[in-house]
Amino acid sequence: MSFDLIARHYERIESIVFGEDLQRIRCSHMETFLGAESILLLGDGDGRFLKALLDSGCSAKIICVDSSQRMLNLAKSLTKDSEQNVRFLFKKIQDYDLPDSFIPDVIGAHFFLDCFSEDEILVILGRISGWCKEHTKLVISDFSIPEKRRFTRVIAKLLAWKMIVFFRTFTGISAYKLPKIEQLLSEMRYKCLKKETLRNGFICSWVWEL
Ligand SMILES: C[S@@+](CC[C@H](N)C(=O)[O-])C[C@H]1O[C@@H](n2cnc3c(N)ncnc32)[C@H](O)[C@@H]1O
Repeated sequence: MSFDLIARHYERIESIVFGEDLQRIRCSHMETFLGAESILLLGDGDGRFLKALLDSGCSAKIICVDSSQRMLNLAKSLTKDSEQNVRFLFKKIQDYDLPDSFIPDVIGAHFFLDCFSEDEILVILGRISGWCKEHTKLVISDFSIPEKRRFTRVIAKLLAWKMIVFFRTFTGISAYKLPKIEQLLSEMRYKCLKKETLRNGFICSWVWEL
């Protein structure tokens, strides 16, 4: 899987389909990030969330892990003028070992887990659980098929299917359907502390704790 091919077009594609909504949901739990001293960002992409975080006055130590060099380059360039304490790492999350000295208060993963199959997500969540201390919060943003209103469900399923076909074709993601992220996290005994949604529940952001 590589997002290199679409990295430069990612923001434009996103804004055509969702306008500002994905960025609004990424930033919907900003207060959780701003309370942290150490933040781990997984698959953070082109850096728009990181820039918003730094512009909000975040002075935490931040590690950004992404498997696309082009996405990392965009993130570095977007945040080069901000006051920052950020380490950018070109790595797959599956191969990444967090330094023992880095205990994340918050782990952020926006529109990252939906790149994987549910079996892979369970493995990734297993790794993440190993990095969580008692107080660590997990902020996840992702798509979810709304439970109510049949018409909304049909539209959401159609859009999710189109996005998966697009990303499978151009980036080689392994997801072949929208993973049930809320259910997987609950099964792994994470407790949901907060949830924000947009577009009738199709776009979500949660704060979780083990
Ligand atoms: C759908 S994009 C999401 C980007 C951004 N977080 C956002 O909110 O739009 C997925 C990101 O995860 C990265 N990624 C995909 N697989 C990865 C992996 N195994 N390890 C680390 N990063 C990965 C991609 O390079 C890409 O930047």
